Amino acid sequence: MQIADRGTVLDAEAQATYRRNGFYLAAGLLPEKVMTELSAAVAGLLDQDGPRRITERDGVTVRSVYGPHQTDPVVSRVCRRPELAGAAMEILGAEVYIHQSKVNVKAAFVGDQWEWHQDYIYWLNDDGIRTPDLVNVAVFLDEVNEFNGPLTFVPGSHNEGVLAATDKQGLPVGYEDAPHWVSTLTADEKYRVRHEVIARLAAENGMVSPKGPAGSVLFFHPNILHASSPNISPFGRTTLITVYNGVSNPATKAGNPRPEFLAARDTTPVRLTSSS
Ligand code: SIN
Ligand code: MN
Repeated sequence: MQIADRGTVLDAEAQATYRRNGFYLAAGLLPEKVMTELSAAVAGLLDQDGPRRITERDGVTVRSVYGPHQTDPVVSRVCRRPELAGAAMEILGAEVYIHQSKVNVKAAFVGDQWEWHQDYIYWLNDDGIRTPDLVNVAVFLDEVNEFNGPLTFVPGSHNEGVLAATDKQGLPVGYEDAPHWVSTLTADEKYRVRHEVIARLAAENGMVSPKGPAGSVLFFHPNILHASSPNISPFGRTTLITVYNGVSNPATKAGNPRPEFLAARDTTPVRLTSSS
């Protein structure tokens, strides 16, 4: 067993905040040296054409690159660092594997929105993951501020379970020729939460957009209600998000599963890399 000691990365207060709010921001958690290496690796990934790379509705601007931990040695190493994978083990109290990873670019001026949604409904319906015992770990490669489309959360909404959602059929406008799984990745969310539900929860709990410098790490629960607006600013907002899942909670979807770069079948536990 390799479960990180409770409190090594996230102390008891940080973990309690995560459990209460459904998210926790650790500002400046990753060293500058790591961020420099990671940013260079990510810049190289954006140039690589292929099914892992999703563009915005304009068909040109890179929106996301999926599964970079499977293709890039630097990203692979960073995803196994104690500050990320170790903290995920602390939160989940279990050994973890990487279910999914992605670079979300949110390019200056053109990076598009993510509509209000929860993540777990995708992993439940599309991948057959039976419990919401996963955690999103987002590394800010750029400063995230109020101008460049920060993630916005309704605190505490992760306690509501899977909220009523409409399942949109077919592929969104601009992606008509794409494979079926692309419908889960665009600015046009597949599983939408009704506006009345969002309004009620926001009235009860407010909304928060965690902001911080590059190197900050944002942990968030798969059932938290969240969205992010388009990037109207001249500042990029590149983020690496790794989704860690407990090893006893694998994807079980049989027949037409999403590709390995969206929903890993390999549940080999993460072995932590050194934090130096
Ligand atoms: C974002 O990168 O702004 C959205 C990420 C997410 O919805 O999980
Ligand atoms: Mn999401």
